[in-house]
Parts: sequence; structure tokens; C-alpha cells
Amino acid sequence: MQYAIVTGDSRGLGEAIAEQFLTKSIHVVGVSRHSNRELAEKYGGSYTHVACDLSDPSQLEEGIEQVMKRVTRDDPHFIYLVNNAGVIEPIETVGNFQSQDVSKHMMINVTAPMMFLNHLLKEANDQGIKTAAINITSGAAERSVHGWSVYSSSKAAINRFTETAALEQDMAGKEHKIFAYSPGVVDTDMQKEIRSSKESAFADLDKFKALKEKGNLNSPRTVAAVLMDLLNDFSSIESGKVYKLYDLIENKT
Ligand SMILES: NC(=O)c1ccc[n+]([C@@H]2O[C@H](COP(=O)([O-])OP(=O)(O)OC[C@H]3O[C@@H](n4cnc5c(N)ncnc54)[C@H](OP(=O)(O)O)[C@@H]3O)[C@@H](O)[C@H]2O)c1
Repeated sequence: MQYAIVTGDSRGLGEAIAEQFLTKSIHVVGVSRHSNRELAEKYGGSYTHVACDLSDPSQLEEGIEQVMKRVTRDDPHFIYLVNNAGVIEPIETVGNFQSQDVSKHMMINVTAPMMFLNHLLKEANDQGIKTAAINITSGAAERSVHGWSVYSSSKAAINRFTETAALEQDMAGKEHKIFAYSPGVVDTDMQKEIRSSKESAFADLDKFKALKEKGNLNSPRTVAAVLMDLLNDFSSIESGKVYKLYDLIENKT
């Protein structure tokens, strides 16, 4: 039996990734504040939802415990983890954001993915289960964007975390695949939030509005399908690497 843990499965990219696993008869345990009624209705017993606010430390610990119990109880031979849940706010220039907003952001974008992978590797190595962990990152990790200092920093942290966890598992002789996936620009609520920010806080506002107007945002389904193609070519996956949607599409054509 195979399981996939997908955080942020209630909408956007996480929902599309969860559905791709479900169509391949891989059981999904989704984690977000709101459940996904559509996935529950369509896939019934193959889909479980754990309600959890990842910005709350005690809910995070409890949520991870519940998820781990669920994915290990049926003696699985493989567990996927997709650390997808993420927020972009605060979109604000340095000097103008609030401490609680930064803390919340870091809990969701950095602490939660770190702790999910931490617990998964412990269980997997103790019980001899193979795993693949995918941390959803962003191009913003590698370049500075006006107004996105917090987001760029959290995604840069995730890239380095991915690389280090992969290095450690490799040095320990473990065969887990741990990598990051940068999905390009995706037509989700996060893009709506970006387009509704103030120009004083985000200088590229017009550029992002134009991406939507010109139909240049990728659909979550396309982005999820490219990830699945990569997972299907499992032996070629390089642990520690940041895979980028545009490179993966280019290499195919
Ligand atoms: N959209 C883009 O253009 C883009 C580009 C590059 C990278 N990404 C990355 O892709 C990932 C998915 O983003 P998206 O565009 O699909 O975003 P989205 O549509 O805003 O969805 C965010 C997901 O994260 C969950 N989430 C947010 N806050 C949470 C919290 N406190 N506790 C638990 N879950 C929480 C949400 O679920 P609930 O609200 O139900 O909790 C939702 O399922 C993120 O890591 C993002 O940084 C997106």
C-alpha cells in the first residue's frame, strides 16, 4: 500500500496534486484548515483529511502525530510527502510588517515542512519504509522581489533544508528521494492575493495583473501533472535538487 501526505490540499496546487495521487490509487492524507469536500465525495475511503492550522505550534504537533498514525497503520511500503501548504503574506516592504505576521508565515512555510519531514524520516527509517518528499518552493527563493522579503526568505530556507536533508540521508546510505519543486506561476488564490496587494508594498503589481489578463498563469492541474511525470521517472530523480516546472517542460519538448 502507498500513501501520500499532501499539506494544503483544500484548494490550489495541493488539491490538484492530491487528486493526481488518488487517480493512481495512492491513498491521500490531506492536511489543511478546511477539508476538501470534492475529494472526499469523489474518492471516499482513499482520502482522509486532518484539519490543522499549521501556524499553531500545538495543532502542528498534534496534526503530525495524527497523520503519522494514519499513514503507518496499514503497513505501507511507500510514503510520499508533499509539503505544499504555503502563504505569501505579509506582502510588505521591510520596515512595515508586523512580528506576528512574520512568525505565522515562518510556521507555515518553514517550521511545518521541516517537522513533517523530520517525523516522516524517523518513522520511515525505523520501519524500513521508502519515501519521496517534495517541498514546494518558488523562484523567489533565488531572486529578490520587492515586497516579498519574507516569502523569498522562507522559500530560500526550504531549498537549503531540502539539500541538507538529502545530503544526510545519502550519507546514511538511505534511498529516500528528497527534492524541491518550483511550480512557476500558478492560477490559484495565492495569485489573487498577490494581485490584490498595494503597489506601495509590491512594485511588480502590474506585471502580475498582466500575467492573469494575458492567460499566462499555469493551471494547477498542469503543474501537478508535470510533478507526477517526474515521480514516474523515479530512478532519475536527483535528491537535494530544486526541479523547476519550466525546465521539466522544456526537457520534454
Ligand atoms: N500560486 C503560485 O503562483 C505559486 C508560485 C510558486 C510557488 N507556489 C507555492 O505553491 C504552494 C501552493 O500554493 P497555492 O498557490 O496553491 O496557494 P493557495 O491556493 O493559496 O492554497 C494554499 C493552501 O495552503 C493551505 N494553508 C494556508 N494556510 C494554512 C494554515 N495556516 N494551516 C494549514 N494549511 C494552510 C490552504 O488551506 P486552508 O486555507 O484550508 O488552511 C491551501 O490549501 C505554496 O507553497 C506556494 O508558496 C505557488
